[in-house]
Amino acid sequence: MEHLSVLKKEVKEYLKLSEGEIVVDATLGLGGHAKEMVQSIGKKGKLIAFEQDERNLEEAKIRLKKFEKQIIYIHDNFRYLKTRITGAGISEIDAILFDLGLSSPHVDEGDRGFSFLKEGPLDMRFDPRQKLTAEIVLNTYSESELARIIYEYGEERLSRMIARKICERRKTIPFKTTVDLAAFIYSIMPFKKGHSSKKVHPATKIFQALRIEVNDELNSLKEALQQAVEMLKIGGRIAVMSYHSLEDRIVKHFFKELENPEVKDIHESLYRTHGDPIFESLTKKPVIPTDKEIDENLRSRSAKLRVYVRVRE
Ligand SMILES: C[S@@+](CC[C@H](N)C(=O)[O-])C[C@H]1O[C@@H](n2cnc3c(N)ncnc32)[C@H](O)[C@@H]1O
Repeated sequence: MEHLSVLKKEVKEYLKLSEGEIVVDATLGLGGHAKEMVQSIGKKGKLIAFEQDERNLEEAKIRLKKFEKQIIYIHDNFRYLKTRITGAGISEIDAILFDLGLSSPHVDEGDRGFSFLKEGPLDMRFDPRQKLTAEIVLNTYSESELARIIYEYGEERLSRMIARKICERRKTIPFKTTVDLAAFIYSIMPFKKGHSSKKVHPATKIFQALRIEVNDELNSLKEALQQAVEMLKIGGRIAVMSYHSLEDRIVKHFFKELENPEVKDIHESLYRTHGDPIFESLTKKPVIPTDKEIDENLRSRSAKLRVYVRVRE
């Protein structure tokens, strides 16, 4: 089956890669964007590709076999970006892409535990080398920890009630499978007939929260953004594609500081002073998919692309 990468044309237009550049794909997935990138930089260029999921990494390597001499593969979390890239003997980069979140195999293959529509274990690890799974989170975290995760990472108002019910239920029957958890969440939600939230399954937010906790996704992103900007040359571009508001907010706030950096004055001042921008935004508003793209690939519907360029040291 053809693999559909989200906002492919737009990423290409904004990143403007050229021959011989050293570029990074922080989220290789099945290699759709990577293929475009490696073709744009040509034989003299280098692509460093991160992927923490071994299955996806191996599949991408097969798909990109033709370009193997141009690619350095790194099977790791992108939160180790700087150490791993400098470890490969590279000190600065021309461009980097983050296409965050899940890939289609994560959703399609029940045994990964990411989808509540597919029967599977409550796993949700991108990288099975790590120990923490969604099952451990659900069955061992305290009620207040669960409530916090569901509120912060799931943006669910009923977080306390849900956490309380989860803790009551697990005393007798621990949570083991995706479909069981989804049915349980559905059963405890106070629906009224014809309520519009029927459209989105109430387990969606709980699954998002668990996934973010299991993979420590938001902290990884914050750490990686910092390292990425430190490695970008002047003129270097960074593109970040996010699929939910928590990620998009992190990206937006992170770059706001760099677009309007505060000057730490040695003289005590009552007023904040700001210096020249270090990064400029190339996308005044986030770029979103066209209706046509959403029709062809439903997964693209929540995508938001932001691109920035480094303008000075
Ligand atoms: C949306 S998919 C990328 C799709 C890819 N751009 C393509 O065109 O095929 C995101 C991928 O990033 C990986 N990923 C997510 N978070 C990661 C992290 N912190 N470090 C490394 N890889 C990560 C996931 O395993 C997944 O394969």
